[in-house]
Amino acid sequence: MNHVLTASQFSQKELLDIFSVATEMEEVLQKGGSEMAKGKILAALFYEPSTRTRLSFETAMLRLGGGVISETDVTFSSQTKGEILADTIRIVSNCADIIALRSRTAGDASIAAEYASVPILNAGDGAGEHPTQSLLDLFTIQKHFQLGEAPLHLAFVGDLKYGRTVHSLATMIRNFENVTVSFVAPREVQMPEKYITKGDVVLTELTDEVLKNSDVVYATRIQKERFEETDLYERVKNAFIFDTEKVTLMHESAILLHPLPRVNEITLEVDALPQAQYFAQARNGIPVRMALIAKLLHLV
Ligand code: NCD
Repeated sequence: MNHVLTASQFSQKELLDIFSVATEMEEVLQKGGSEMAKGKILAALFYEPSTRTRLSFETAMLRLGGGVISETDVTFSSQTKGEILADTIRIVSNCADIIALRSRTAGDASIAAEYASVPILNAGDGAGEHPTQSLLDLFTIQKHFQLGEAPLHLAFVGDLKYGRTVHSLATMIRNFENVTVSFVAPREVQMPEKYITKGDVVLTELTDEVLKNSDVVYATRIQKERFEETDLYERVKNAFIFDTEKVTLMHESAILLHPLPRVNEITLEVDALPQAQYFAQARNGIPVRMALIAKLLHLV
């Protein structure tokens, strides 16, 4: 593995290997961190808003004993002067040993990888992909279920057109057998065809059956910033709201995930229910990103 660019680059073996390193990283975290990456620098280039992804990348590097430099506001970046991404990446490659990049356009991470002399981690490229999020999503799922062994039903709910996390997770989950998938979204923001495979169920309504029969429900935010028409956003913004009544229809051992931030998709009362696993999911981002940094820098 030279870079992390897309969910489709991973085999099942690689995924399980990353999860086993992430489990070791949980122990490292419990012991207060390590010096494994001493002298190494992570550059966090975030040209779109972020809280948890950037901070968890930075925390991951700091807990490994490395250093962090970041650029978090595109208005202060030379990109505002008209510098192209390729040049920015060439320059940042001189400063850092590894780069986490969040950008506004799908495909940017792959362009960056062409020009970088250090590993690139795609931290979200527009409405494209978000593979490191999917690794932590799958790591969370793996903690609850025997991936690939017992049958597992996963329902994706919300904005599946613009939500990059669902594009990556729907791709990554195909590495495991015995997994069935439902996509639940208003027609206008349904999953793009290229992520749908034979046997998937595509729905426009969140039915009680879906809630009762899913082991994992993956809720997402309607991606307001990606809509060209405000009218359309207004029409779909309240499409699915997970409240106590809905979530208690799920099996007690089923889990409700969300990449966060939530806006109005999950009411606050739901947080207290056993199915609500989104905060634990976000916490898993740190050991998973430690594992990725350690692997890409050949520290493990
Ligand atoms: C997601 C993203 O940026 O795609 N957030 C995250 O990284 N956890 C989801 C979102 O913004 O809705």
